[in-house]
Order: sequence, then structure tokens, then C-alpha cells
Amino acid sequence: MTIYLDNAATTFPKPEAVYRAVDKTLRRLGVNPGRGSYQLVLEAGRLVYGVRQTIAEFFNLNDPAGVVFTANATEAINLALFGLLQPGDRVVTTTMEHNAVSRPLHALATRGVEVLKVPVDATGRVTLAAIQQTATAGGVKARMVALSHCSNVTGTIQPIEEIGNWCRRQGILLLVDAAQSAGLLPIDMKNMGIALLAAPGHKSLLGPPGTGLLCLAEGVLPQPLLYGGTGGNSLSPSMPEELPERLECGTLNAPALAGLQAGIEHIRELGLEQVRRHKSALLEQLIYGLQTLPGVRIHGPGQARRQGGVVSFTVAERDPAEIGYLLDEEHGICVRTGLHCAPDAHGSIGTLPVGTIRVSPGLFNSAADIDTLLDALARMVKFVPNLTICKQNNEFQEG
Ligand SMILES: Cc1ncc(COP(=O)(O)O)c(C=O)c1O
Repeated sequence: MTIYLDNAATTFPKPEAVYRAVDKTLRRLGVNPGRGSYQLVLEAGRLVYGVRQTIAEFFNLNDPAGVVFTANATEAINLALFGLLQPGDRVVTTTMEHNAVSRPLHALATRGVEVLKVPVDATGRVTLAAIQQTATAGGVKARMVALSHCSNVTGTIQPIEEIGNWCRRQGILLLVDAAQSAGLLPIDMKNMGIALLAAPGHKSLLGPPGTGLLCLAEGVLPQPLLYGGTGGNSLSPSMPEELPERLECGTLNAPALAGLQAGIEHIRELGLEQVRRHKSALLEQLIYGLQTLPGVRIHGPGQARRQGGVVSFTVAERDPAEIGYLLDEEHGICVRTGLHCAPDAHGSIGTLPVGTIRVSPGLFNSAADIDTLLDALARMVKFVPNLTICKQNNEFQEG
């Protein structure tokens, strides 16, 4: 039996309703929404618009046209950053970001964008005061603040509402990478002052892989990242001005979007609070159990209520990759080990170069799964393996 505890990478399995929605749409409405004017195409277009409506309601956005579909969160973040930042602009970010934020910013820095990284405390948290200071240093005001709501390494939750309300008052755009929070923590774009919200559909929103979204507050209009056909006004050599067509070209993945809608509806039926309560209870059980194991160190807040859906830890004198390998090989337990695509975050919490072991329970995990993991770890931390042999076999998971 496999125990999947890597839901921060992507949630698996999905609710039954998601599988059904994908299958039904692919069979009944497998046409190209927005391309043509016959009945089936119009119906597929209505379906896609309905998904935009569901998402706009979920994140408290007035206009569903401000919901732009992408293939994943990375594409949504790239669209926001490359679409709005010009040479000479200042953007403020943190030292906790995923490569989905830090790599595009690195590329933009080589094109003349000033990228300033604000340090975090030992738990991975940034303060509003530090953001304020950096965003206005030298009398120059930042154009954008870009940071994750919740760290994929430590689970640390950032004070987005405080930052967002300040940014709004200052006329600074706030881009939130909600990869680890959408579908887990409440997100209200209006009340939290979020100008741009980037999220994957395939993580806690429970949609299929290949789904992502960028929500744009009123008046926020990035330049397109991709140029091509939008199904209308074909004579124009330019992309349309209107959203979402301006930022979406090529064929949409309507079956996957129908699955995403079913995923969000599943969360709404359960209630976000219930989803969070379930995951927090598992994290609490895990944190408590880890604290009793010799040599185990938890990185991050170490309190379920102060973090999102992940717990990261290390074991003294042991390579995280080796622990992950043994959990998988001997116990069928899937966890993520290494750097989790966020080297800056590991630099901030002192876990370079090997990273951490990251556990991220999902909606379908139970207390018994966490007990099994803790039992396996308890046996492992007493046993010192021959690391050289394991490494020669090159069987470790890559970070
Ligand atoms: C914090 C964070 N940002 C961005 C991403 C990228 O998400 P995607 O794989 O959907 O592009 C991830 C993925 O793990 C993440 O954890």
C-alpha cells in the first residue's frame, strides 16, 4: 500500500467528482471553446466561463474576466512579473521564495529591473516593517511586492493582509504566489489588497495537473506573455485589449478546467475551515510525534496553526534524501526531500545544501497514515546505514 504525503507537490488522489467532470467533459464537450459558433462550442465556452465565475467568487474578485487560465502557477507568476515590470522598476520579494518567483526575477534583474530581497526570521516569516523599509528605501517606491502566501519548505504563513493593505495605500502592486495556500487558507483579494493572485489548480484546489490561474484585480493589465490566436478579431495583428483573451491564446484545456471547478466545489461543500482543520490535525500529530524522535529537528514555525500544509524536518547526521529513499523503498511512503525548488528558503533557514524532508498530508490522509510514517521514522533514526553504498547506487531522490 502506498501512503502519499507529497500533496504540496500536487494533490493526489483527487475527489471522485473531479475524475467524473474531466471524463464527462472530454466525452461530451471535447470541442474547442471560443473557436466557432456552433452549439457545442458555445456550450464549452459557457462551461469555461462558469469556471471563471467559480474562481472569481472563491477569491472575491468582482469580474470573472480577470481570471486568466495558465498551465500552472509558474506560468501565472511569469505572466504577472514579465507582464508588468519594466527596466528601472523596483520589485521587492523575500528570501523564502520558490524558483517560480526567484528565477523570473533573476532574469528580470539582468534586464534592468531592481530586485530587492527582504530577509526573514528563523521561522521563515517576513515582517511588514521590513517590506515597507525596502519598498521605499532611498526615496524610491517599488512598483511591485511579490511573495508567497505560504512557504512550500517550512509552511510559514506570511502576513499578506497587512502587506496588501499597505501596498494598496501606497499604490504598489502586490503579487501573491498562492501555490501553497489556495484551497487551504482563506484568500479574499479585495480585503487582503491583492492585485495579482497566482495559483496552481492542481494542488489544494484539487484540479488536474496542467491547470493554473492568475487573478487580476480591477485595472491591473499585464502585457501578454504569449501571442497568438484568441478565436475572435482575427484580422488584427495585435492581441486584443480585453481580458481574459488578451492573456490567453491557443486552445484551453476545457476538460481539466471542468475538473478544477469540481475540485473547488468539493472544497466549498466541505468548507475551507474543515479542510484546514483536517490538515492541521494531521500536522499537529506529526509535529508532536517528530518532537519525540531523537536527532529530529523541525524547521519553520513548528506549530500547525502558524503554518500551511507542510512540515519540514531533518535528522542529525542523516541525508534527507536517504531517509526519503528508505521511506519509499521500505514502507511505500511518498515524501519530498531535498531543496523543493526553493534554495533561497533553505539558505534562510540553514538547511543548505541537502535540504529537508518535507511531509504534506492531503484531504485523503488519515491519522493512521501519520502513525505509520512516525513508526517508520522511529525505526530508522535508531539505524545508521552505510551512506556510501546507497550514494554509489545513486538511488536518492533529487531535490
Ligand atoms: C510556493 C510555490 N510556488 C510556485 C510553485 C509552482 O507551482 P506549479 O508547479 O503549479 O508551477 C510551487 C510548486 O510547488 C510552490 O510550492
